[in-house]
Amino acid sequence: MKFFIDTADIQEIKMAIERGWVDGVTTNPSLIAKSGRQLHDVIKEICKLTEGPVSAEVISLDSIGMIAEGQTLAKLAENVVVKIPMCEQGMIAVKKLTALGIKTNVTLVFSVTQALLAAKAGATMVSPFVGRLDDIGTDGMLLIDDIIQMYQNYDFKSEVLVASVRSPMHIQQAALLGADIATIPFKVMQQMTGHPLTTKGIEMFLADWNKSLVK
Ligand code: E4P
Repeated sequence: MKFFIDTADIQEIKMAIERGWVDGVTTNPSLIAKSGRQLHDVIKEICKLTEGPVSAEVISLDSIGMIAEGQTLAKLAENVVVKIPMCEQGMIAVKKLTALGIKTNVTLVFSVTQALLAAKAGATMVSPFVGRLDDIGTDGMLLIDDIIQMYQNYDFKSEVLVASVRSPMHIQQAALLGADIATIPFKVMQQMTGHPLTTKGIEMFLADWNKSLVK
């Protein structure tokens, strides 16, 4: 299972890389805005930190604009993946960018049929948002299960990228379902390292060790 880090924060990316947790990076317009920097500057800097795929999202709502933005983004670095929102115009852009040899990540996917259309258009990755589905009282992980099954039924090559991750439980479920990738906030990566029995075990080993020194 590949781990992407879901952030535009350079320090977080560096820390996650140092810990061996980064196979790629995803950003979105909200994360870029939060960084307070220009999209192209941040993406170029991130692409120097990792050889893995780095998703950069277009802002245009029409296919012509999306294709032009996508081509510009793809020129920033070899590992840029152009992130396109799920909509009809987006599918035109995905088909065209795919034909041009540019990788795409279809974002804001909330149904099996959206994932089916994204795969048919040639998306390299498809991002179902599990946390946002949970937020409206549904079970986001059921969608992951269904999309994986649907892609297997027809041997689609698009990778399932679990997005809008809010907790380690999302990652556990995604891994057990066989999702290709999860994009994870750094805070959730850190939460995944912990277990109360690990903390207690370390404390007990250290206490026993210190007692032996006193003798
Ligand atoms: C995915 O690529 C998105 O950047 C992200 O996972 C959205 O997560 P959110 O719902 O926590 O904003």
